[in-house]
Amino acid sequence: MKFKAMSLSVVLALAAPVAMGEASVEEYRAMLADKDANPGFLIIDKGEIYFKEKRGPKNASLEQCDFGLGVGKLKGAYAQLPRYFKDTKRVQDLESRLVSCMMDLQGFTEAEVKAKLYGDQRLNENNTQLEAIATYVAFQSNGMKIDPPLKHAGEKETLKLGEAYFWNRHGPMDFSCATCHAEDGKRVRLQTLVNVYNKQDIQKTMSTWPTYRVSHGVARNNQHRMWDCHWQMRTPDIDYGSPATVALISFLTHQAKGGVYDLPGMKR
Ligand code: HEC
Repeated sequence: MKFKAMSLSVVLALAAPVAMGEASVEEYRAMLADKDANPGFLIIDKGEIYFKEKRGPKNASLEQCDFGLGVGKLKGAYAQLPRYFKDTKRVQDLESRLVSCMMDLQGFTEAEVKAKLYGDQRLNENNTQLEAIATYVAFQSNGMKIDPPLKHAGEKETLKLGEAYFWNRHGPMDFSCATCHAEDGKRVRLQTLVNVYNKQDIQKTMSTWPTYRVSHGVARNNQHRMWDCHWQMRTPDIDYGSPATVALISFLTHQAKGGVYDLPGMKR
């Protein structure tokens, strides 16, 4: 009867080591799906405080930032990003827009804003203010359809560029994003890799960013994912909010169009 008391995964481990891997990953996923236990909500609360705090040389909050739907309009704004902005004359995603608002409204220099982008999980760090704010702003589009605009020539151009870059092989391993993310069922060790040409798959993926990453102990955003996957490709660090990252995010977001934001996500 001792056998019965063992968890399913242990039984499977005795039977077949390969199947055990699958079963524990499934158990883990089920645990991750418990929304109430998502620490991302605490980070959203912190993000709101940082967002409304007067900071920088101009001693201003970010409440006057225009994320595309008008000054100070947060509800639904993330669901319609990336988009073209007249004031900066370029297409911006959430994070690059935050950088320009911190510069314009609060008077920070770009170098100051970008001095510390991400909490480092190896040092047990908490989220940076930038990460927390991005998670808060994105959350204001929870439950809404992913609906990035495609009217302005700049938006069309950025989308095209993003898909081209997705297929472009580069770096010391000669990888493109497509090497890992353009077919069903690919995996690196136990992690299944999103196929961006599988509508359901990419919708599920993009609708859950920003996400709380259990293995990092912090919330991560799209910019961090782009940086992380460039690390997967062993390229130099990609610049936060750069046109290349915005183009990639624009492509991924358009592939996921029609999906419904389910925020904050929670992932491995
Ligand atoms: C060598 C393989 C590899 C390459 C090349 C690669 N990635 Fe990834 N990608 C990964 C891995 C591994 C993960 C993490 C999967 C996990 O932890 O579940 C991932 C995750 C992602 C995710 C998030 C998936 C999710 O479930 O939320 C996105 C989006 C993504 N990659 C986009 C890209 C883009 C864009 C590029 C090109 C710049 C790229 N990747 C290049 C391996 C790769």
